[in-house]
Amino acid sequence: MALFKRKTKPAAVERVLPEHIGIIMDGNGRWAKKRKLPRSAGHNAGGKVFRKISRYCSDIGIKYLTVYAFSTENWKRPKEEIDALMKLFKDYLEEALRDFKEDSIVVRFIGDKTPFSDDLKALMIENEEGSKDRDGMVLNIAMNYGSRDEIVRAVKNISENVKDGSLDIDSIDEDLISDNLYTAGQPDPDLVIRPSGEYRISNFLLWQSAYTEFVIMNKLWPDFTEKDLDEAIDIFNNRNRRFGGV
Ligand code: IPE
Ligand code: IPE
Ligand code: MG
Repeated sequence: MALFKRKTKPAAVERVLPEHIGIIMDGNGRWAKKRKLPRSAGHNAGGKVFRKISRYCSDIGIKYLTVYAFSTENWKRPKEEIDALMKLFKDYLEEALRDFKEDSIVVRFIGDKTPFSDDLKALMIENEEGSKDRDGMVLNIAMNYGSRDEIVRAVKNISENVKDGSLDIDSIDEDLISDNLYTAGQPDPDLVIRPSGEYRISNFLLWQSAYTEFVIMNKLWPDFTEKDLDEAIDIFNNRNRRFGGV
């Protein structure tokens, strides 16, 4: 009787997937500068990477992805750059986001929509409404997002409720504050990735990232690949999260 040697499987390396990843999509301008191109060319290249990485996160089973696309401070940039960015956002909201239908991705915008043009606002709402019943990854696109602004809004909302008597001041707790942020009902990010080598948070998810693991990568966003995302997840897996415990 032939002896069958059982093939031993390589020891499965348990890789924990972060439930929620945040990405500060930074470095478009420097990418363009290196190529002697206008900054808008960097944003166009960054847009393509946004599309690729969002779909990749959905494919590998990430439940929540929050991408920082435009901050409350980015209005300080030259008009020419702002105009190019608004045009790019419009193109994406008209076309690229429709692709996300195949992946069943739920699209949400976090940030204050008020200053955007009526066209853009309508497209944002259309994308949110059209995707809200999907069952895939939740993709939060942070546009005109600033975490300080988000916290101010939460404080105002809560204060209104105290003022009209519907909320007792003693009921204000951490959960109530979380419930008044744009990310209400979502888990805090486990991992925030910042490409482009800057060691700062730039007003992104301040409250939500109290215990987030930060991974700074030297690649500029338009050069960022699926492999870089995997590497960030590997780094995350080697961190020892203690949440203040031992
Ligand atoms: C990030 O890239 C995109 C936005 C802020 C809209 P940058 O435009 O900040 O690129 P760098 O940091 O100047 O290279
Ligand atoms: C953060 O990048 C905002 C986005 C990526 C949308 P910035 O380029 O605006 O941040 P700073 O100015 O380097 O802090
Ligand atoms: Mg930048």
